[in-house]
Amino acid sequence: MVRYTAGAVLGEARRIMSELSGGEFSGEIRFTPGDPKGDVAVPCFPLAKAMRRSPAQIAGEFAGRASFECDLFSRAEGVGGYLNFFLDPAAFNAGVVSDFARMGPDYGASDMGGGRNVVVDYSSPNIAKPFSVGHLRSTNIGSSICSILRFAGYNVIGDNHLGDWGTQFGKLIYAYKRWGDRAVVESDPIRELLKLYVRFHDEAGVAGDEHPEEGNPLEEEARRYFKMLEDGDPEILSLWRWIKDVSLNDFRKVYDVLGVSFEEMLGESFYNDKMDEIKAMAEKLGIVETDPDGTKLIRLDRFGISTPLLLQKKDGASLYATRDLACILYRQRTWDPCKIVYVVGEEQQLYFSQLFKAAELMGFRPGLEYVPFGLMTLPSEGKFSTRKGRVIFLEDVLRESVERASAMVEGRELDDESKRRIAREVGIGAVKYNDLSQNRRKTVSFDWDRMLSMDGNSSPYLQYSYSRARAILRKAGVPSAASWDSSVPSEPEEAALLAMLSRFPMVVESAADQFCPHVIANWLFELAQGFTSFYTRVKVLSSEEPFRTNRLILADFYSSVVRRGLSLLGVGVLEEM
Ligand code: ARG
Repeated sequence: MVRYTAGAVLGEARRIMSELSGGEFSGEIRFTPGDPKGDVAVPCFPLAKAMRRSPAQIAGEFAGRASFECDLFSRAEGVGGYLNFFLDPAAFNAGVVSDFARMGPDYGASDMGGGRNVVVDYSSPNIAKPFSVGHLRSTNIGSSICSILRFAGYNVIGDNHLGDWGTQFGKLIYAYKRWGDRAVVESDPIRELLKLYVRFHDEAGVAGDEHPEEGNPLEEEARRYFKMLEDGDPEILSLWRWIKDVSLNDFRKVYDVLGVSFEEMLGESFYNDKMDEIKAMAEKLGIVETDPDGTKLIRLDRFGISTPLLLQKKDGASLYATRDLACILYRQRTWDPCKIVYVVGEEQQLYFSQLFKAAELMGFRPGLEYVPFGLMTLPSEGKFSTRKGRVIFLEDVLRESVERASAMVEGRELDDESKRRIAREVGIGAVKYNDLSQNRRKTVSFDWDRMLSMDGNSSPYLQYSYSRARAILRKAGVPSAASWDSSVPSEPEEAALLAMLSRFPMVVESAADQFCPHVIANWLFELAQGFTSFYTRVKVLSSEEPFRTNRLILADFYSSVVRRGLSLLGVGVLEEM
C-alpha cells in the first residue's frame, strides 16, 4: 500500500543483506534517519562466525557489492563492523509525502490482515453486577485492538461475551423472589441487584452455619433455580430476561459515554442450547472423565496443567468453560476466523490455558490468543478510595474526569456548547489514554493530574498539539500534498518529523501483531514532540515561499496522522481547545 515507509526501508535493507550474505538475514537492522553516519545501520557481527571474517571486513566487502533494486538507497558504506545505508533524502521525503497524498486520512493502513476474519472477545461484563474497572480496561483495550486490527486489514467481529448465564442467576432469582421488589430494582438496577446478591450470601452464610450437616439450604435453592433456568421454565426465564434488560440499560450508558459499539453481544446464555454437542464431541474423543460424584471434567495433567477443566457439575449444570468451548465452535462455524482474541484480565491466565488446551484437543481451527491485562488502581484518596466493600461505579469515574476537564476550560472565551464538548473529549479521552498508553500487562495507576496534564504523555497534550496544527491550517489554508517540492531544502526538524511519520505504517503493524495499543500511544507522543520542536523552531506561518507550502503540508500530514492515531485509541480530537 505504502512504499516510502520505515518498514519498506528496513525490508529493503534486509533483502539486500540476505542477498549479500547468501541466506536469510535475521540480524538486527536499525533505522536511524538523519544520522550523518547513515540512515540505516546493520551490525555485521552476527555474520562473522559463519563467514570466518572480521565484521569490519564483511561490512567493507558488502558495501562494495551492494546493489540497489529500488530507489530507496543511494549508497552503502562499511564503517567498523557496520554496514550503513544512505537514503536519498529528497527522494525519500518526496516519497513519504506522495504516499500521504495518495492515501490521505488512510495513511498508515496496512493489508497485513488480507481481509481475514478475526473475532475480538472483549468488555464482557457480568449481568446484575457493577461494570468493574477491569471491564473498563477490557472495553478500552478491546475496542482499540478492534480499530487497530481493522486498520491493519482484518475484518473484525467484536463480540461482547456478556456474563449472562450461570449459577449466580439461580442465587439472584431466588433472592429477588424472596426479598426483592420490582420498582426498587428498576429505580437503580445494578445497585439494587447487587444488594440482593450480597444479601443472598449473607443469609446463606447464616443458613450454612445453622444446618452444617445437610448442605446449605439456600445454595440448594439457588441450584434448583438455575436448573429451572437452564431447562427453560417460563417464569424463571422471564425474570432472567428482565434482569438482563435492566442491567444492559445501565451498561449501555457506559458504552455510550465511551463511544463503544459491538458487532455482536451474544453472551454466555446464547450457548445454552449448544453445549450438548460440545459434551458429546468431547466424550467421543475420549477426553472426558467422570468423577465418582458425577462431575465431568477434562484432565490436562499430561500437558503440565494440574487443574482439570470442568465441563459439567454433578447436578448436570453447565459451566463457564462449557459455554466458552461451545462459543469457539460457534465462532468457527459462523466466521471461520483466523484468530479469536480474548481481552480478559490476567487473573484468568490459568483458565485460558486450560480452555485453549481443551480446544486444541477438540481440534478447533482458529488461533486462540489470550490478551491479558493487569490491574488498574484508583486514587487512594477522595471519592474513589477503595475502602472495604466499596464498589466503584464506573459512571462516577467518567463523570469526575469530565468535571475536572471542564474546570480546565472554565473562564475561557468559548460558548457553553464548545466548553461541554471540550470537557467531554478531554475528560473521556484522558481516562482512555491513561489506560491505553501504558503496557497492558502492567498495573495502571490513576493519577488525575498526570492524566489531565497539558504536557507529558497524556491525551490532552496530543489533542492540544492537533488543535495547534489545525489552527495553523485554518489561517493559511490546507495545501494539496501533491504540491510538495522536493527541491526545497528542509530543516533538520522537518526531516525528522517526516522520518517519524514514515514509521506510522510499521507502528500500526507492530501494534496489531502484539495486540498492544500502547505501541501506538508511545509513538504518537514521540511524534507530537517532534511536531512541537518543528513548529517552535520553524515558524510555519511566517515563513516564506518556497518553504512555506512544504511546511504547511507537513502540518497537515501531522494533523491527519495524529487524528487517525488517536482514533485508533478511541480518543477524539478538537479543532479548537
Ligand atoms: N464475564 C467474564 C468476567 O467478567 C469475562 C468473559 C471473558 N470472555 C470469555 N470468552 N470467557 O470475568
